[in-house]
Amino acid sequence: LSIGIGIAGTGEVGGEVVRILRQKSGLLMQRCGVELEIVKASYRSRRPPPDLLPDEVITTSLDEVVEDPRAQIVVELLGGIDDAYRVITGALQRGKSVITANKAVLAAHGGLIFARARESGAALGFEAAVAGAIPIISSLRNSFVAETFHRFYGILNGTTNFMLSRMQEGMPYSEALRLAQEKGYAEADPSLDVEGTDAAQKLALLSSLLFNTPIPPNVFTQGITDLTENDIRYASDLGYTVKLIASARRLDEGLELSVRPTLIPSGHELAHIQNEYNALFIKGDNIGQSMFYGLGAGGRPTASMVVSDLVRVARSLEKGTSSFPVFFNSEMIPLVPIEEHRSPFYLRFGVMDQVGILAKISTILAEHGISLSGAWAKTVSNNVISLVVATHQTRSGDVYQAVKKIDASEGLTSGSSPVLPINDLRNGEK
Ligand code: HSE
Repeated sequence: LSIGIGIAGTGEVGGEVVRILRQKSGLLMQRCGVELEIVKASYRSRRPPPDLLPDEVITTSLDEVVEDPRAQIVVELLGGIDDAYRVITGALQRGKSVITANKAVLAAHGGLIFARARESGAALGFEAAVAGAIPIISSLRNSFVAETFHRFYGILNGTTNFMLSRMQEGMPYSEALRLAQEKGYAEADPSLDVEGTDAAQKLALLSSLLFNTPIPPNVFTQGITDLTENDIRYASDLGYTVKLIASARRLDEGLELSVRPTLIPSGHELAHIQNEYNALFIKGDNIGQSMFYGLGAGGRPTASMVVSDLVRVARSLEKGTSSFPVFFNSEMIPLVPIEEHRSPFYLRFGVMDQVGILAKISTILAEHGISLSGAWAKTVSNNVISLVVATHQTRSGDVYQAVKKIDASEGLTSGSSPVLPINDLRNGEK
């Protein structure tokens, strides 16, 4: 069986897809009985080497990829939203199946894209869009179809996890980011990584599959941009590790979704996930808890998952069956406002070393009904101390308001103070 494919985008991931298809054609034939022939491939700035993609295959035109009648499957690996949306919907409209690694376009327009795919009967594969080499999408779409899920949490961004690992060793934030970019983990616009957007897009996609809801917009997102290596050290002194945690909880009142840098116990499995690895936990009513672990970023692991979708779709084209279950989203489950999420918190205030500062800060916290479980003064320099405060279980809205007031009080703190939830990822879990 030979299937023609068109590839839109031959950069970090697309380039590796081309390499795998070229180098592993024998293995794919042996294992799966399919030959995947690249009939058209587009590039934007860096042309892939001619020995991988000859002149008659390569183009700079996205339309040529979508419109080539020999391309039965179109692979969208452009990143970004507008061009990607055009390529995906253009291909689906022509009845072609689509594979994408693009969480941004799915988080923004997934509802429309899924509807197009349903109408046309074409397959839409997006394994590579979430958590790199971890086959969580196929697990949810194929293996866990009988499960009712109530809880999900995990590390869904490789770049920030890599950065936090370096910062734990004392490397400053900016150097850690530069290194992550150099290694090809970061998005073209790395603010999507460090501000938590990338993880939130993945969480939104997962939530749709886990909880049978249209892709939720506006997942509350807090990035790691305010974190310093000192926070990581102070957290560690208290027995915690800081990770960018994506969390979902199905409650009677709605869905509690957030992406936030979170203090988790240093003994927890997620605290040991280092570098660009991702890991995630799901809890189902029959299967109990499952943990997934694997490389979350980088061209090669992501490309391998693109190829797995390609093979699955190619084989289904042969049989004329649908490669993925067609899921019909039900009603949107309302999101619980972030103000109502409750947890203990870690707060850090950079303050001048003066009499009465702790009293002023604790007064404002008390005015907002926030009770403290501990406070520690850490010397930063002669005049400046870091005041680290841990709270008991608190409504997020109260903490955000109190810290805003403290930061706005003249001469009290030196800027915006980090507010990080503390989550033992165990208490009260079913
Ligand atoms: N920039 C993303 C990450 C790539 O670091 O996780 C994989 O989606």
